[in-house]
This record gives sequence, structure tokens and C-alpha cells, in this order.
Amino acid sequence: MALLEVTDLHTEFAVGKKTLHAVDGVSFTLEQGESLGLVGESGCGKTTTALSIIKLLPGNAQITSGSILYQGEEVTKKTRKGIRDMRWKEISIVFQGAMNALNPVMTIGDQIADAILLHENLSKEAVKARIAELLERVEIDRKRATNYPHEFSGGMRQRAMIAMALACNPKIIIGDEPTTALDVMVQAQIFDLLERLRRELRMAMILITHDLSAMTDTCDKAAIMYAGKIVEYVRVADLFTEAAHPYTRLLMSSYPRIGSERKMIDSIPGTVPDLTDPPKGCRFCDRCPEAMPICRETPPPEILLPGEHRVSCHLPSLIQKEGAKHV
Ligand SMILES: Nc1ncnc2c1ncn2[C@@H]1O[C@H](COP(=O)(O)OP(=O)(O)O)[C@@H](O)[C@H]1O
Ligand SMILES: [Mg+2]
Repeated sequence: MALLEVTDLHTEFAVGKKTLHAVDGVSFTLEQGESLGLVGESGCGKTTTALSIIKLLPGNAQITSGSILYQGEEVTKKTRKGIRDMRWKEISIVFQGAMNALNPVMTIGDQIADAILLHENLSKEAVKARIAELLERVEIDRKRATNYPHEFSGGMRQRAMIAMALACNPKIIIGDEPTTALDVMVQAQIFDLLERLRRELRMAMILITHDLSAMTDTCDKAAIMYAGKIVEYVRVADLFTEAAHPYTRLLMSSYPRIGSERKMIDSIPGTVPDLTDPPKGCRFCDRCPEAMPICRETPPPEILLPGEHRVSCHLPSLIQKEGAKHV
């Protein structure tokens, strides 16, 4: 049994009289201790996928079908209390922009204490010891517990957020663009920290990013998301040699490697289609340099390739590839 198994998930937003199909048939699994990168441009449904898993969706959103199994239990059917018991203790999330998420008038230590006390009834002493331990895990001096958020740098605030996410020993940590708005060197440090913590604490991780290169050092598998769908699912070790979807390949060429000299980013021409009225064929066809007439008419088949590799594409070179199976 996988730790987390998401199958054919559909999450929609009501936008005026329209329905926006933000997550449209997403499936993936996460094993204990494994890390999955969820990658794609802005507006492709990554955050909505993450929020669906912990049911932190805004009021106008709804999971309309599909299944989310956490340790074999159906999350979509859990009660409010069931979800509260699961959130932070089993699965926790770190968002981008720690400045907005932290309370400016509370010390860092008190905020971490709140996170600890959400699920655990500990003595004052035990909480204090746990705060010190958590701060040191994220490489912050324990004396800084009495500081306020404005006394921390951006990178330290994000570390403090990670400490809060770890407060209840979750089995899965989700990082939603956890380094956006930080400078490049600090971004690399945060990724290193997450990777080290994942190994030490034997957590599974879902790392959400629009930057494909940033997750290659950290993740075991990559799910490339475009316009509400996972268009390719591939082991990171195979990404550079086996990436098959034209969107994945364009993403790979459009970001410089983290830590290397920052070059101008060539973004992919065009924009993500309107998800209230998505194209009937392949959603990427308007921007795809290899699009064929069939791509406009028919949704692409899902092709299973050797090595847990899945691609949704009409390209004959993929369909005819040795060992390919269709779904
Ligand atoms: N609260 C909301 N109400 C309506 N539409 C939303 C809301 N949040 C996100 N969306 C839409 O859902 C789609 C997916 O968004 P999101 O999950 O935030 O993507 P990503 O995290 O990949 O940038 C986008 O079209 C976005 O505009
Ligand atoms: Mg997002």
C-alpha cells in the first residue's frame, strides 16, 4: 500500500457562472520516504492539487470526483475532525512567502509552540525543549526563539515555517514554491535543508515548483503538470535522458540550473489555456512546436513506457516506442 495514492482527482472552482477545471484527472502515488516534484508553469493546478490533499481549499472549490487515499483511508470522505487530526500531524504544508504566513506580533518560539500544541499535550518544559530541537533542525540558533519575524531574514523566516511544519512529526511534507521570493543562494540552501530533513526524519515530500531544475537534486520522481493534468510522470534519474513530452522538454530548456550563473529565462511562448473552457484535444497543442492536426481534435492517449514512465502525447515516435503500452 502506498503512503498516498491520488487517483483521477478532479477539483473545480466556481467562477461566476462558470466552472474552472483546475485539477482535471490527476493521479500519482507517494511511497514512504519518497519525494515527488510537482512541476509546471503558474496556473496549471499544482497548488489546487496540494490543497485538495489536505482539504484546505477555498470556499468556491470542490473536489468533484476521484480518490485520495492516505494510508489506505479516503481523505475526501473524512469529517472535519478527521481532517483536522490529519493536517500537520500526518501531512503538513509549507507555503511560499513566510512573511505573510507568520504572525508579526508573536515571537517565533510562541508560533512554533502553537504548532506543537495543536496535536500534543506537552508540559511547558517539554514544549520549550521541542522548540529548541526544531530550531536547531532547521539550523537556527535556539536563542532566536524569542525573536519576532521582522528580526529574521527571509531565508530564516522560511526555515521557521519549515520548523512549524515539522512540529507534529508529519509523514508527508508538502512544499508549495517554498523558495519563491528568496535569492538564488538562499533557495539552494532551503532545498538542501528540505532534502536533509526528509532523509533524517524519513518523511515523504511533495515539492511544488515552476522551476524544473530546482527539484532535480531533491526529488525521486517528477510529475509535470500542464493545464490541470499530469502530462508526464518520470523518475528524476531518467529525466534528462528520457523526457518525452514536448512541454517537459521546453521546461527543461527554459530554466538555468540552480546555483549556476543566472541567465535570462526564455519562457515558453504563449500562455496556459482558459481552464473554464479547455481545448478539446491536447491542452498544450497551441504552444507545442510538434503539434499535428490530431492534437487539436482528440485528447492524447496515456502511454506507459518502461521504468514507471507515463506520457500523454500523440507523437508517433512515443506511441511506437519499444515497450510502449497505451491506456
Ligand atoms: N480561489 C480561486 N478561485 C477561482 N479560481 C482559482 C482559485 N485559485 C486558483 N484558481 C485557478 O485555478 C487554476 C489553477 O491554479 P493553481 O492551483 O493556483 O495553479 P498553480 O499552483 O500551478 O499556479 C488557475 O486557473 C487559477 O486561476
Ligand atoms: Mg501555486
